[in-house]
Amino acid sequence: MKVIIPPIKSQGIKTKLVPDIAQCIPDNFSGTWIEPFMGTGVVGFNLVVKNAIMCDTNPHLIKFYQTIQSQEITPNIVREYLIQEGQYLLEKGEEYYYLVRTRFNENADPLDFLFLNRAGFNGMIRFNKKGEFNIPFCRKPNRFAQAYITKIVNQVNAISQIIHTKNIEFICQDFEKTIQMAGKDDLIYCDPPYIDRHTDYFNTWSEQDECQLYHLLSQTQSKFILSTWHHNQYRQNHYVEKFWQNFIINKKEHFYHIGAKENNRNPMTEALVRNFESNTDNSFVYDKQIALF
Ligand SMILES: C[S@@+](CC[C@H](N)C(=O)[O-])C[C@H]1O[C@@H](n2cnc3c(N)ncnc32)[C@H](O)[C@@H]1O
Repeated sequence: MKVIIPPIKSQGIKTKLVPDIAQCIPDNFSGTWIEPFMGTGVVGFNLVVKNAIMCDTNPHLIKFYQTIQSQEITPNIVREYLIQEGQYLLEKGEEYYYLVRTRFNENADPLDFLFLNRAGFNGMIRFNKKGEFNIPFCRKPNRFAQAYITKIVNQVNAISQIIHTKNIEFICQDFEKTIQMAGKDDLIYCDPPYIDRHTDYFNTWSEQDECQLYHLLSQTQSKFILSTWHHNQYRQNHYVEKFWQNFIINKKEHFYHIGAKENNRNPMTEALVRNFESNTDNSFVYDKQIALF
């Protein structure tokens, strides 16, 4: 499966899991793809059949895709913006990155969000307690060289085509509301912040949240697939046993690469939990994959 990569990156992006999630979807599925925690959107953009509702509480992600939908942002606009801003970055260096970061924290311009996401350290998204983007510069003043701009513009183009040929609604709201929008023919894909792990302003996740998610997903008439972590070399996610063990669970080893050094590559076993049988259950691949981002 060729996975389409969106223009926004994040440390929790599920690019490498898209083929596994695709394998779980029933062949005849024609309902609405419902995604309460869309993040970069990579899963839904690749797997939507016709209709999707894609939500997140991070308003910057939602606004970015809404402005592509309304055509306030087009591939050409992105190209012109990155050529100009990339030139300023080249001339002024890191001072310019921080100027754009301050401007974004005041005005929340979606193009500045793209700039910071692609020129910030390791393509990370993180907001401080005041809700301000606080990722430092990647320290490459020539970040927006022509080939890199073309790559980003092509990514915007690919996602715009999906947004304009499918029926997708983007909503900034809490997961509870999104799950309640799902009907019996729909499929909910949940990728919440991993409990006990990375947190920031838009990514706090407590036991109470996990418990509420469990109640909502246990009661839904829809099909659901949940991504969570199962274990790593140090510990188990005991919430898998506490909440999810009565559902079908597939596991897969995955490498997260956070930071520049090889020894920061941490193997982690991911779990896909679901409440329905899939016709590919016997052929499900339990393999190792390397996710570098
Ligand atoms: C692990 S990320 C999702 C990554 C996504 N699957 C991808 O591949 O890019 C979790 C997302 O949940 C969002 N989020 C956190 N708390 C939420 C809540 N209470 N309701 C809805 N979204 C929430 C965060 O903003 C973040 O984008």
